[in-house]
Amino acid sequence: LKILVLHGPNLNLLGQREPEIYGYLTLKDVDNLLLEKGKGMGVEVVCFQSNHEGAIVDHIHQASGVYQGIIINAGAYTHTSVAIRDALAGVNLPTVEVHLSNIYRREEFRHHSYIAPISIGQISGFGVDSYLLGLQALVNHVQSLGT
Ligand code: DQA
Repeated sequence: LKILVLHGPNLNLLGQREPEIYGYLTLKDVDNLLLEKGKGMGVEVVCFQSNHEGAIVDHIHQASGVYQGIIINAGAYTHTSVAIRDALAGVNLPTVEVHLSNIYRREEFRHHSYIAPISIGQISGFGVDSYLLGLQALVNHVQSLGT
């Protein structure tokens, strides 16, 4: 099983970016924890971060036929990007949306997600655990499909 983890804009700044909201782990820490958890489950995890909407769209397209599912924290593009949503809908891979912070207890503009309606589910508010729980849930989902 191969799972693609996509991180959107500004997540490269993790650890130094508003740490009271996003915590002190770096993106590398997060990726290492995901790789480790994947290994424990016998799952190959590949992580990619970009600040560019088009690069994220390209990676979603390239995931088709290579990966069995996608974990995505689209960052601010969650709230703006029809293009990323359409790419995910277009490749039709099971997708789990994750957020470090609880987007519903923050500013109103973070309450709407373009990704949520095309996702299996969303995990928001648990810091790095959002990703790890998301990975577990996605793997369970894919395995229950028997593929
Ligand atoms: C975020 C929440 C978004 O609203 C924000 O723009 C981010 C990070 C999160 O992980 O909590 O960049 O996706």
